[in-house]
Amino acid sequence: MKYLKNLFLILILLLIISCDSKPVHGKNGMVVSTSTQASKIGIDILKQGGNAVDAASAVGFALAVTSSSNGNIGGGGFMVGHFADGKTFTLDFREMAPSKAYKDIYLDDNNNVIEGKSLTTHFASGVPGSVDGLLKAWRDHGSGSIPLKQLLEPAINLANNGFKLSKYEANRFNKNKDFLSKHSATKLIFTRNDREWKEGDIFFQKDLAKTLTRIASKGRDGFYKGITAKLIVEEMKKVGGWITYQDLDNYLSKYREPIIGSFNDYNIISMGPPSSGGILIIQMLNMLDLLQTNLNPPLDLDFNSSDYIHLLTEIERRAYADRAEHLGDSDFWDVPKEILLSKSYAEDRIKSIDVSNATNSNDINHGLKMIKESEETTHYSIVDKDGNAVSVTTTINSGYGSGITINGAGFIMNNEMDDFSSKPGVPNLFGLVGNEANAIQPKKRPLSSMSPTIVLKNNKPFLVLGTPGGSTIITTVLQNILNVILHDMNIKEAVSSPRFHSQWLPDVLYYEEGSFSNKLILDLKTKGHDLKQRGNIGEANGIMINEKGFWGGADYRGENTAIGY
Ligand code: GLY
Repeated sequence: MKYLKNLFLILILLLIISCDSKPVHGKNGMVVSTSTQASKIGIDILKQGGNAVDAASAVGFALAVTSSSNGNIGGGGFMVGHFADGKTFTLDFREMAPSKAYKDIYLDDNNNVIEGKSLTTHFASGVPGSVDGLLKAWRDHGSGSIPLKQLLEPAINLANNGFKLSKYEANRFNKNKDFLSKHSATKLIFTRNDREWKEGDIFFQKDLAKTLTRIASKGRDGFYKGITAKLIVEEMKKVGGWITYQDLDNYLSKYREPIIGSFNDYNIISMGPPSSGGILIIQMLNMLDLLQTNLNPPLDLDFNSSDYIHLLTEIERRAYADRAEHLGDSDFWDVPKEILLSKSYAEDRIKSIDVSNATNSNDINHGLKMIKESEETTHYSIVDKDGNAVSVTTTINSGYGSGITINGAGFIMNNEMDDFSSKPGVPNLFGLVGNEANAIQPKKRPLSSMSPTIVLKNNKPFLVLGTPGGSTIITTVLQNILNVILHDMNIKEAVSSPRFHSQWLPDVLYYEEGSFSNKLILDLKTKGHDLKQRGNIGEANGIMINEKGFWGGADYRGENTAIGY
């Protein structure tokens, strides 16, 4: 019976993938995001003469309206850009701990973590970075042809005039009704008294429209000063003033040194600390590179063969074990980047890999445990007609963040403080335990897994990709890169393929329901892996670029849309 169920699920999965395995084609530009409205807005900006960065900023503001659960101006994110002329930038607009934050803020008198304080209270929020980041990118790297008002106008219109809820979005509101009803300002906007939300309902956000209008007319000051700042500070005064005027005024997004690596004939550009994604992806590719060249006899590295899954799992274990010990906001912690990224370090790390047997995670040094993940981050990828590429991942952490809407300003605050390590050894929402590297300090940024990435071929953008998925983001981006580079998939096939994930602790190899055959499960068990089925892993949105144009791959998981022109 179990065998039949498994077979049935695999058939369904194959059907989904094969029915829709073609990427969307565009010759002049491509936008792939989690929201149809936001993807259209990005394409419109490109058609109006904007470049990929203009479009990325406009999409970011549009998502604040159409994807309130994750793409919200109460949060933060990372942007990786690569221009046709070779220029690269990586921008960190991650939230910052308020100046009142301190190491033990989430502990009670007995030194125990106070449940929920870093997740669902006013104290859960860091100072939001999205507005500063989106505006900085537009100002520094935009085409100069799209004025601020034009950039924000589509988002303001969607908020003010409302938009039709998709079935997915209506369901998401309904599914989260209890959570969205806990805070009065949130309840007023995101729930209905009379009935559940339905597909096609018009969803208005008048207060958010006013906030976006203030940003459109005053830029950064429309959020970090004036009325919006006052509304944020007033809300925070309810708990004694967690975020102050000064915290808001002091917020700055920062350009970070890009993390660069190579694999086969490709170069990879990704995000550095406070993201852990870039370093881990390169570290894992370095390990795989050594294994694929040195193993004798060579292993079967075919897509999702048992050897392939085994080796990637072993590699993931080692990289995630390093994450806890060594990674944090590099403004506060000396991250040994060069060592972690070096081939010689990878050589050292793979010495303990046994090609036939799983290593017990307890035998691997350094660590963090990951149990649960929030999938509520969002990723979008954009390419313009000149071949400029932008990859953005943004979040308010878990779905609908802290659940607390800034009264009168219409947006929900993040609960990103939970990405810090509240206490060594105690897991956060993602099950992550950390140490000093990611301890709470005022003005520090919590460690993230978000990994917006661009892969270059002959020094030109070839893949633009990323995904939500909490701690699974990093392994999803890795598998997508390999799906294209090693397994010759097109971008749609790559993002839609079944995924697996392992993160050292717990010592478990997760796979998407119905994606592994019984034989594969048996092979992996024989190698010593403890396997667990779970739901979808991530929602990857990618673009592949070749001589025939731009190819958009929107993940069938969730509600993603690729639009090209
Ligand atoms: N909040 C999830 C992450 O940044 O990794």
